[in-house]
Amino acid sequence: MKIFLDTADIEEIRIAARWGVLDGVTTNPSLYAKVGGSYEDILREICRITPGPVSAEVVAEDAEGMLREGRAFAKLARNIVVKVPMSEEGLEAISRFADEGIKTNCTLIFSSNQGLLAAKAGASLISPFVGRLDDINQDGMIVIRELAEMFAIHDIESEILSASIRNPLHVTQSALAGAHIATLPFKILQQMIHHPLTDKGITTFRADWDKARQAAAAKTSAASAEATETTATAASLATATGASADEKGSRKGSRNGSNGTARDAAPKSGGRSRSSRGR
Ligand code: G3P
Repeated sequence: MKIFLDTADIEEIRIAARWGVLDGVTTNPSLYAKVGGSYEDILREICRITPGPVSAEVVAEDAEGMLREGRAFAKLARNIVVKVPMSEEGLEAISRFADEGIKTNCTLIFSSNQGLLAAKAGASLISPFVGRLDDINQDGMIVIRELAEMFAIHDIESEILSASIRNPLHVTQSALAGAHIATLPFKILQQMIHHPLTDKGITTFRADWDKARQAAAAKTSAASAEATETTATAASLATATGASADEKGSRKGSRNGSNGTARDAAPKSGGRSRSSRGR
């Protein structure tokens, strides 16, 4: 299942694109109202960020007005999909857009029959609003499931875009019910990434790693301190030993009245050498 972001917030779209999970974007007048500015500029920027379909919604309520707005959107970028609400005028606009080769997303779908009609009129994307159905105590996922079955049975090419997603469970359910796409608010995408055990696991791994590194560093510095100490002891021993040898030598030398060399230590004349004893 493809993942679209349901937002007009450029920063959110950039982030999701960096995560490598963004297949497209849907916008609507309410989402646009949250960010303001020029709708056209925002759409152009979104189309630069993602090569996937980017839905731009018309606000006219008559077919001619929808066509005028939709054609202008379609000129902004190659990946623009004109979002048209389900209505009698909307169906006509969808059909005429299809003749002109302009792709459409039929929005505000709340029943499988509406979805079927939108697909027949030529919409590329069909958007059932699962969350808003759940809000009125109807199972929004039933529409997704029924449309998926209908489209499979009748070999209909339009894609089912699960919209009005309110929680991560809606995403899982949409995928299992056969939606081709789910469009999500950025917050839901973030919720999908996180799991309390994943986040806890990352923290624990990091803490254990830091502990292990500190222990290793402490061991290394203790070992090097010991090595330094051994070297210092050896050096001072060597110095001490050298000094006492010198001292001995000088003491011997002073007894012989010389500087203590072997020759000096040899018996003086009149004395008998060990080698001459047996002669
Ligand atoms: O793109 C339309 C849509 O997903 C609406 O969501 O939360 O306003 O019902 P919501």
